[in-house]
Order: sequence, then structure tokens, then C-alpha cells
Amino acid sequence: MKIIANIAKMQEFSRQVRLGGLSVGFVPTMGYLHDGHLELVRRARTECDVVVASIFVNPTQFNNPADFDKYPRNDQRDAELLLSERTDVLFKPHADDVYVGDASTTVAVSGLTDSLCGPGRPGHFEGVATVVTALFNMVGADKAFFGEKDFQQLQVIRRMVRDLHVPVEIVGVPTRRESDGLAMSSRNARLTEGQRKLAPVIYRALNAAVDAYIEGEDEAVAVVDAARAELSSVEELEVEYLELVDARTMKPAETADENSVLAVAALLGDVRLIDNILFARALAPDAAFDACEAHAVPDVIEYGSH
Ligand code: PAJ
Repeated sequence: MKIIANIAKMQEFSRQVRLGGLSVGFVPTMGYLHDGHLELVRRARTECDVVVASIFVNPTQFNNPADFDKYPRNDQRDAELLLSERTDVLFKPHADDVYVGDASTTVAVSGLTDSLCGPGRPGHFEGVATVVTALFNMVGADKAFFGEKDFQQLQVIRRMVRDLHVPVEIVGVPTRRESDGLAMSSRNARLTEGQRKLAPVIYRALNAAVDAYIEGEDEAVAVVDAARAELSSVEELEVEYLELVDARTMKPAETADENSVLAVAALLGDVRLIDNILFARALAPDAAFDACEAHAVPDVIEYGSH
């Protein structure tokens, strides 16, 4: 595995790979890797010839500078895990190179960021969309892999790529869970033993909502209530939001259908956990789920001859 820090070297590496007719798969991360991240690498490994994973703790997506400083890091272990999944390149750019001193360009995706995590984390998705756009320009990938765990982020990236005609295919990867259903996250390690035992209530609640839908309930309020009832069985859990939204718009839905996503953010002590369930995937686990309308493919007109 190569470790590349220099942006121009990364660009040149991908250019050479693609000139040679091979495809590049890209997995952007902020490091401190767990099996959820590695699931993205495995998927990239099966779909692309050359796999690039990046580790960059992006300062512009943290609302609170203290959270950025506290963000856990474990470079050695991350490198070993990526190597064990046969990653070809670990790209680790320096913050001073990614953000040049007087950087003044950002990428803002409106609408999709008005709900769920958007209002509570001002500037967060702008930081994410900006750094992902920059990383795409540095890595030059054919496909990039993102987790459905952060579903709003995934939809923001899909929209940005569509709207700016970025030549990369976005692949959403289903959430990897612990055996008791808790979505894998680096934050899980901060839960006390007691909190860790309570945390799976989140996934049980999401499933309770889908069960209500499958049993014929399609009023959003009633579907959400099925989840809320389950969540309220754990009084230590403080719900920040629990909302049924349409995956294409991330706007609140009045009725549930196969485009619905039920998303939740909740605190256990000071650990903020997020999770979601895609109704389409719950109904047909192996179905591809994109929920982002593509542009029509334009015709090519031959004009003159060379
Ligand atoms: P990070 O939190 O490190 O996550 C990197 C990728 O791993 C994201 O696409 C996230 O959705 C995915 N992921 C995390 N937990 C997962 C799980 N349990 N199952 C499947 N995928 C999971 O998300 C970011 O970093 C940053 O915002 C980034 C996109 C790198 C931009 O800075």
C-alpha cells in the first residue's frame, strides 16, 4: 500500500491508473476506522481495480473547534486495517495544502440540508460538500463510496455531484451494524457499559416503525409514533430529532412509502448517536436504492470528419 500526502502526486497516480485502462474507487474518511468504514473499502475492492482511501479530519465540518481537537486519531492502526483490506493507496493530505491560506470558495447544497442534522449543525454540510468536492478533484475516481449510516450526507453528495456534473459515480453502502443492531460508529466506544446495553433501542425503534408500515399504517405521524413508543422505553435517551422524510428531498413526509427514510439523532449521556432506516431497503434488502434523479444522457452529434 502506498501512502501519499502530496496532492499533485495523488492526482498523477490516478491519472496514470486511468490512462492504463483501470478504474479507481475512492473511500473518503476521517480515520479512526471501524468495520463500517472497512465495509466501504470492501465494496470498492469488488467494484474497482484500484482502491484509494483518504484520511482527512476536515476542520470546516466541525461546528465546534473543541470537537475537532478531540476527534480521535489512530494513524498506525488505520493504516494496518486498510492494508488488511488490500487498499492500494492511503491518501493523507495536509490541512495546509487542502485549505490554502486565503481559500474563499465553498460548496453549499441547499434544501436537502434544511432538515434533520442541518439546523442543529450550521455550516456542517457546507464543510462536507466543500471538502468532498476538493477530494474528488485530488483523487480523480470513477466511483466513490459513502455509507447510508450518514444518509443526509450521502444525499447531499449525490446532489452536489449531479448539480456540478462531477464525473464520479456515487455508491451508497448499507449501514454495518453490531450483532445487536447498533450502527457501527467510532462514538460507540465512548458509551459506558450501561449505555452500550441501552443503545440498540434505536434500531429496534426504527424497525418498529417499518413494521407498522408493513402492517398497513401509512400515516407518517402513526409510523413515527411506533418508533417513539419504543424509544421512550429508555428514559436515559434524549431524542434530538425523530423524523420521517422523503429520501429525494429530505423534507418531512406526510405519508410513508418506499421513498421514506426514518432518521433519528439521540443523546445517551453526552454521546450523540444517529441512525436511519430506508423503507425501500427494509422491504427489499438487496435492492439498489439511489433516490436521486439523474440527468438525461445527452446525444453525441458527429460533425465533420477528422
Ligand atoms: P467518517 O465519519 O469517517 O465516515 C466515512 C464514511 O464511512 C462515510 O461515508 C460514512 O457514512 C461511512 N460509515 C460510517 N459508519 C458506517 C457504518 N456503520 N456502516 C457503513 N458506513 C459507515 O463521513 C465522514 O467521515 C466525513 O464527513 C467525510 C465524508 C469523510 C468528509 O469529511
